[in-house]
Amino acid sequence: MSKHHSALGLATALRPVQPVTLTRPHAAARAARFFAEKFPGKSLYAVKANPSPALIALLWDSGITHFDTASLAEVRLVRENAPGATLCFMHPVKAEEAIREAYFDHGVRIFSLDSAEELDKIVRATQGATDLTLCVRIRVSSDHSKLSLASKFGADPADMKQLLIDTRQVADALGICFHVGSQAMTPSAYTEAMERVRAAIVGSGVTVDVVDVGGGFPSVYPGMEPPALDSYFDAIQRAYEDLPVSYSSELWCEPGRALCAEYSSLIVRVEKRRGDELYINDGAYV
Ligand SMILES: Cc1ncc(COP(=O)(O)O)c(C=O)c1O
Repeated sequence: MSKHHSALGLATALRPVQPVTLTRPHAAARAARFFAEKFPGKSLYAVKANPSPALIALLWDSGITHFDTASLAEVRLVRENAPGATLCFMHPVKAEEAIREAYFDHGVRIFSLDSAEELDKIVRATQGATDLTLCVRIRVSSDHSKLSLASKFGADPADMKQLLIDTRQVADALGICFHVGSQAMTPSAYTEAMERVRAAIVGSGVTVDVVDVGGGFPSVYPGMEPPALDSYFDAIQRAYEDLPVSYSSELWCEPGRALCAEYSSLIVRVEKRRGDELYINDGAYV
């Protein structure tokens, strides 16, 4: 791998015909240290945001000890590249075989779910394990985010009561998680979601051990300048301290983009211009 000081310098010097991936390990290490030191709880890297083995090892070396995985392939990947890491299988819809291998072969003890069927699946696949941390995902609004996940995952707030009560019966530790959508442009996305969490806890009367505010932390892009991340952390901490959770409860988050956005970028060549449309030498065939 060669080192260059700027993307423009590289493009001018090499005039690459093929696309070139640039990586900035120092930027990812800085982002990891920022979350490890400033987020008032645990930060799980959402591997799906960039599953590069080098990045996983780098984040682990920079203080990220927990990883949010969404597939068995990601579970295996993190096991290989950060063997000491704590793995969390946070896709609310999983194959029973994947849960079984994650639990028995890779030591995964933390799972998320958003339906009674998924809870049954987890219990069956782990043969009634008594050492599980189970996070029930509640559907929240994505109104403040650039990319919504609201229609895809999360239990309806009306179904949370029964699901929390049932999950409490089998979980060693019970969590509630949510995702406000990616690139949330205001901290109130989290405070509003925390209100739903409060209602779910009060409505079910269960003891909650983990509150996981998910991903959504924004990055800076041209023409898109979100508020500073500290203001998100402050808003989340205030809302969390107000929740009726157990004294020993933990606060978690699952940043994807915020940990990896500055890690890599791509230099492409424009092969053709037609009006305001550019044809570049990289991309999917659609
Ligand atoms: C469950 C879950 N957690 C975390 C993330 C990471 O989100 P972001 O990249 O917006 O931080 C995602 C992204 O889709 C997700 O689905």
